[in-house]
Amino acid sequence: MSSETFALVCSMLVEILKLPSADDVEKLPSFIEEASKHAISSTFSHEYDCQFLIPHSLLLLKEALIFCLEGNKDQILHKKVLEDSIVETCKTYLFPWLESAIVDGNDEETLSGILQIFQIILSRASDNKSFKFAEMLASSSWFSLSFGFMGLFPTDHVKSVVYLVISSIVDEVLGFNYGETIRDACIYLPPDPAELMYLLGQCSSEDFNLASCQCAILVILYVCSFYNERLAADNQILASVEQYILLNGGKFPHEIPGSLMLTLLVHLYAFVRGISFRFSIPHSPEAEKTLFHAMTLKEWDLLSSRVHPIGLKWLFQNEELMEPLSFQLLNFCKTVTLSSSGQLVDIQMIAELVYSGETCISSLLVSLLSQMIKEDAEDEVLSVANVITEILVIFPCTSDQFVSCGIVDALGSVYVSLYSSRIRAVCSLLVFNILHSASAMTFTYDDNVWIGLTMKLLDSFNCSLDCTSNDQERKILIGILCLILNHSANKVLIEPAKAIVLNNCLVLLMDGIVQEACAKGPSLFQHNQETAFGELLVLILLLILFSLRSLHVILEASIDWQDFLQYSDDTQSCSFVGIPCHDLCRLMHFGPSPIKLLASQCLLELLNRISFQRSCLNAELRCSAKYLKSIIAVTEGMVFSQDSRVAENCGACLSVILGWERYGNKEKVVIRESKWSRLILEELAVALTAPGLTSKSFTNQQKIAANIAVSLLQLSQVPEWLTSLFNGSLVSGIVANLSARNVTAEIVNLFSELMTKNYLNQEDIAGLHDLFQVCRRQAYEGGGSNAQLPSPEKKAETAVARSADEVCGLLFGMMLDQRTGSCNAGETEQQRLLREIDSFFFQESSLRGQREAAQVSRA
Ligand SMILES: *[C@@H]1O[C@H](CO)[C@@H](O)[C@H](O)[C@H]1NC(C)=O
Ligand SMILES: *[C@@H]1O[C@H](CO)[C@@H](O)[C@H](O)[C@H]1NC(C)=O
Ligand SMILES: *[C@@H]1O[C@H](CO)[C@@H](O)[C@H](O)[C@H]1NC(C)=O
Ligand SMILES: *[C@@H]1O[C@H](CO)[C@@H](O)[C@H](O)[C@H]1NC(C)=O
Ligand SMILES: *[C@@H]1O[C@H](CO)[C@@H](O)[C@H](O)[C@H]1NC(C)=O
Ligand SMILES: *[C@@H]1O[C@H](CO)[C@@H](O)[C@H](O)[C@H]1NC(C)=O
Repeated sequence: MSSETFALVCSMLVEILKLPSADDVEKLPSFIEEASKHAISSTFSHEYDCQFLIPHSLLLLKEALIFCLEGNKDQILHKKVLEDSIVETCKTYLFPWLESAIVDGNDEETLSGILQIFQIILSRASDNKSFKFAEMLASSSWFSLSFGFMGLFPTDHVKSVVYLVISSIVDEVLGFNYGETIRDACIYLPPDPAELMYLLGQCSSEDFNLASCQCAILVILYVCSFYNERLAADNQILASVEQYILLNGGKFPHEIPGSLMLTLLVHLYAFVRGISFRFSIPHSPEAEKTLFHAMTLKEWDLLSSRVHPIGLKWLFQNEELMEPLSFQLLNFCKTVTLSSSGQLVDIQMIAELVYSGETCISSLLVSLLSQMIKEDAEDEVLSVANVITEILVIFPCTSDQFVSCGIVDALGSVYVSLYSSRIRAVCSLLVFNILHSASAMTFTYDDNVWIGLTMKLLDSFNCSLDCTSNDQERKILIGILCLILNHSANKVLIEPAKAIVLNNCLVLLMDGIVQEACAKGPSLFQHNQETAFGELLVLILLLILFSLRSLHVILEASIDWQDFLQYSDDTQSCSFVGIPCHDLCRLMHFGPSPIKLLASQCLLELLNRISFQRSCLNAELRCSAKYLKSIIAVTEGMVFSQDSRVAENCGACLSVILGWERYGNKEKVVIRESKWSRLILEELAVALTAPGLTSKSFTNQQKIAANIAVSLLQLSQVPEWLTSLFNGSLVSGIVANLSARNVTAEIVNLFSELMTKNYLNQEDIAGLHDLFQVCRRQAYEGGGSNAQLPSPEKKAETAVARSADEVCGLLFGMMLDQRTGSCNAGETEQQRLLREIDSFFFQESSLRGQREAAQVSRA
C-alpha cells in the first residue's frame, strides 16, 4: 500500500467512525479492530521508515477508542471486544515505543498523541480496564519515564499532558480522587524532580498555589512508594518531608480536604521513616513530634487510603501513637472486610503484622477489648473479638501473643458482674479459640490468670442445670473446661484442671446427667445429637473423657482406678469427675452412635489405666466375676458394630481384659467361659480362607478380629478351641488365599504371633516370607502417590469455632484425633504395615537362629 493510500484510508475510516450512523453498521467494530491494530503495528515497528504516517494511525486508534466509549449500546459486545483490542495494542506497541524509542525532538506530536489515548483509557475505559491499565503503567516505572518526557520536551503542552496522565493513574491506584490535587496544581508544578523536592521543603502559609503544589507533590511521592520508584534519594525525601512538616505543621489550606491529605501525609511519613529505619538514616525528632501532635488533634483515617505495609508496620511500632491508633484500630474492627483487597488495610495485613511480633497491635487489640467490655459496648466487643478470631484463623500461633498481652484477664472480667449474655457468649467463644490455638509453652508462664478464670467459669455453673434448655453459652463453657483438661495432659494448667475435676457442683451435675441417661434404658437411643439432652450428654462425655485422660497427671498417685469398677450405693462416692464402667457399658449398649463412640472411648481409657496400675502394683482384681463378665459381654457384642471406630474401641477393650488373664484365677475362669470370642475368630477364619462367604462388612472387622486372636494366643492358657481352629490345614489355606494387596499390619502381626507360638510349618513360613516381600515392594512403589495426599487432620488444627455448635464439632474432632488406638501418632497405615513386616522378618530369623543353635548343640 502506498503511503498516500494508507493516509487516505485512515482518514476515511476516521470520518466513518464519526458518522452518527456508524453504530448501525454491524461489521464495523470487528473491521476497525483489524484495521487499527494493523495500522499501529505497521507504523510503529521500526522496520521501514513511515514516521510521517504515525499521526494517521494514532488518530485512527483514538477515534476507534472514542467510538467504543460513546454512541448507543446496540453493539455493546462487539464494542467491548474492540476496546479490549485497543488496550492490548497500547500495551504491545505504544507503551514499548515510549519506553525505548524517543530519539529526537520531532517525536513530540507522537508522544502527546499516545498520552492522549492513554488518558482516555485511564479516565473512561469500561469495567476495571482503567485500573488494570493504570497498574500496568505504574508498575513499569511510569513515573521516572514521565519526568524523562518532561526533560526531553520542555514545553507546557507536554508537561500538562504528562501530569494529567499521572493524575489519572493516581485516581485509579490510590482512589479517593487524590489525582485532583495534581490536576489543580498542574500549571505550577515544575517538570523536574529536584525542583519538586525543593518546593516541598518551603513554607506555604502565605501562598495557596505553593500549598496546592505541595499537596500534589506529597501525592506523587506517596504513589511512587507502592511501585518502588523514588524521585530522589531516600534521605533527601525524608529531609524534604520533615521540612514540610516543620514549616507547615500538618495544616492544609481550607480549600484542600484536610483529613484526606493528613491521612496521606501520615502514611507517606510512616513509609519514609520505615524505609530510613532500615538504612539507619537519621531523622528529625522535632518533625516527628509535630506530626504526632497533628495526628492526635486532627481528623485522619487510617482506613481510607491505600497503605504500604512498611508504613503500617512503622506506625504500629510507635508507643506514642497508641491513643490515635487505638481509635483507628477500633474503626477497623467495626468495618473490617475479610476479603483481601490488597489495597486498603485488611485483616491479612493486620494478621501478618501481629504474626511478625514486632508491633503493638496485639496489645492494642487486647486493651481495646478490655475497654469495650468495661464500657459494656456490645457491638464493639463483638467487632474486636471477631478481628482477633480472624487473626487466629490466619495465624493460630498468634494466640500465644494475645495471652501474653493479658487477654485472659480482659475476657475473664465478663463473668463477674452482670454483663449481657451476648457479651459473655462472645467472650467465652474467644477464650475457647485462644485455648484451642495456644501452644503448651504459653501456659508455662502464668497459671494464676487461668485459675482465676476457671474459678469464675465454675461458679457460673449451677448445680441444678436445666438439661432440656438449649443453652449456647453452657456448651462453650464446657468446651473451655475440656480444653483446659486437654492441656493439662501436657503438664500445664494443672491447678485449673484440678479445680475442674474436684469441683463438687460439676461432679454432681455430671453424675446426675449420666444417671438420667442410664435410667432411660432403650429409649436413650432416640437421644442423638439433635435433642437437647443428647447434645448435653455428648458434651458431658467429652468432658469426662478429657478428664480421664489427664487424671493421672492432675491427681497423680491418689487415684485407685479400680474404683471405677465398683457399684456403689453411696451417691457421693466419687469425689472427682469420672464415670464407672458399668454406666459406660449401659451407654454403649443403649446409646445412639456418638454416645456409643464416646462411651467406648472412655471405657478403653479406663481399662488401660486400670491395667497399667495393676501391672505396677500387682493389684488383685476387686470387682466380681459377674461384673467382669458383663463388661466382656458388652464389648464382645459390639466388635461387630457398624461404626468401625466403636468396633475398634471394643476390640481394644477386649484385648486389654484378655491381658488380665495372667493376674489371677477369677480372670482365668471368666475368660475361659467367654463364648463370643470363639464366634469372632471362626468368622475370621472363614473370611480369610473363603472371603466370598462372609459379608462385606466383616472385612472392616478383620483387623479387630486379628488383634483379638493375638490377645488370645498370648494367654497363659490358650483355649483348646483356638488350637484346633488354627490347625495346619487352616493356616495353609489362609496363606494360599492371601494376596499382597489385602495384607494388613494386623494380619502380619497375627502371623508373627502364630509363628512364635509354633502354629506355622516351614512351608507356611516360606510362603508368608515371599508374600510379605511382595507387600513391602508394593508399599515402597505405591508410597509416593499415597504420601502426597493432604491429611485432613492438618487442616482441622487451624480451625476456630464461630458458634457453640462448632465448639462441639472441634472437641469431637480432637477426640478422634487422639484415639488411643493410634498411639503411634502420625504413622500412616502403610508405615505400620512395613513396621510389622520388618518385625515378622526379625522374629523369623531369630527363630531360625534358635533352631540352628539347638541342632548344633544336639549334634
Ligand atoms: C475486574 O475484572 C475481572 C476479570 O478480569 C473480574 O473478575 C473482576 O470481578 C473485576 N473487578 C471489578 C471490581 O469489577
Ligand atoms: C490436646 O492434647 C493433645 C495431647 O496432649 C495435643 O496433642 C493437642 O494439641 C491438644 N489439643 C488442643 C486443641 O489443645
Ligand atoms: C442458679 O439457679 C438459681 C435457681 O435455681 C437461679 O436463681 C440463679 O440465677 C442461677 N444462677 C446462674 C448463674 O445461672
Ligand atoms: C484378597 O484379595 C484377593 C484379590 O485381590 C481376593 O481374591 C481375596 O478374596 C482377598 N482375600 C481376603 C481375605 O480378603
Ligand atoms: C482343622 O480344622 C477344621 C475346622 O476348623 C477341620 O474341618 C479340619 O478337619 C481340621 N483338620 C485337622 C487336620 O485337624
Ligand atoms: C482358599 O483356601 C481353600 C482352603 O481353605 C482352598 O481350597 C482354596 O483353593 C483357596 N483359594 C485360593 C484362591 O487359593
